[in-house]
Amino acid sequence: MIKGKLDEIVSEVKEYAPNLNNRADFDVYKSTISGPKGKLTEIMKLMGSVPKEEKPEMGKAINLAKQSIQDTFSKVIKSIEENELLGQLGSSIDPTLPSPELEKGHLHPISQVRDTIVGLFSRIGFAVAEGTELETEYYCFDALNIPADHPARDMQDSYFMPKTSSVSNVAKKSDERYLLRTHTSSVQIRTLLEEKPPIRIVAPGRCFRRDTPDATHSANFHQIEGLYVDRKVTLTDLKATLDHFVREIFGVSAKTRLRPSFFPFTEPSFEMDFYSPDLGKLSNQWIEIMGCGMVDPKVFESVGLDSDIYSGFAFGIGIERIAMILQGVDDIRNYYQNDIRFLRQFPDSIA
Ligand code: PHE
Repeated sequence: MIKGKLDEIVSEVKEYAPNLNNRADFDVYKSTISGPKGKLTEIMKLMGSVPKEEKPEMGKAINLAKQSIQDTFSKVIKSIEENELLGQLGSSIDPTLPSPELEKGHLHPISQVRDTIVGLFSRIGFAVAEGTELETEYYCFDALNIPADHPARDMQDSYFMPKTSSVSNVAKKSDERYLLRTHTSSVQIRTLLEEKPPIRIVAPGRCFRRDTPDATHSANFHQIEGLYVDRKVTLTDLKATLDHFVREIFGVSAKTRLRPSFFPFTEPSFEMDFYSPDLGKLSNQWIEIMGCGMVDPKVFESVGLDSDIYSGFAFGIGIERIAMILQGVDDIRNYYQNDIRFLRQFPDSIA
């Protein structure tokens, strides 16, 4: 008797359920079968009165019926859902049409210029080195011969962390402070402590200085540090390397000049200027593009290298500076505002 009823329910569901075409009707019908007072539920309640020896067979029959009903319900709800989706999409959908053209993103203009510069130096034998953006005073200042009273060490000029902070992957001496690196020159020290000469590296990365933003200043910006240390490295090597860089970047007829300057970690120190007739409007106007010089013997001393044996040169290029010239951008703040109308003007040639 139970079996007969089960068969009845199963065939009823098979016949009736596929006609349901919306979720509300489906839910109502489903509850008449498997809801608390549903037909199937009522039958299951009868199991208690079934003689013991018939129970296994009854159990099996109920399970089969349940499975069959469940399969039918799943098919029906799937087709209802598909119809709902079609309703949302409109009737004119043609699934055979190709998908709309995907718009490819591209590298940020600053990243593009960084990659160009790094690529240029890697072709002449410079490897890429990395440091950390959070630095200790030792790497950022002390080891670079920057004295305690230097303005960059003033609380007002750099971003210092509270004295109590500690960062697991940047070891500090007990009495020094962490700060956001003010230049990539800290990577010089990290590299010199880890590797033996000959060393030829470029270290691109983000730097931070407390500054009021204007068209040419930003509190965060990017540099590429260069360092070459070996026996008998001379000023001629520095000049030739940087001349090569300038001509590759700004055009073959670009001219350079070194102006005496001062950095605590290079001696002698220079600012390098260039002008390039190839740049049209900018021709005949000297533009300062980087600081550079020969590694100061005090730096060798702080990393345990003998300055009678080794010599070297270092330079620090401001990426934004170069990018602004190459890309004709007159306000540095454009680079950080994430305005898609600005970024789209610099499609990546490699992407
Ligand atoms: N670190 C210097 C700066 O940020 C630039 C520099 C790097 C100068 C290497 C000389 C040598 O201004």
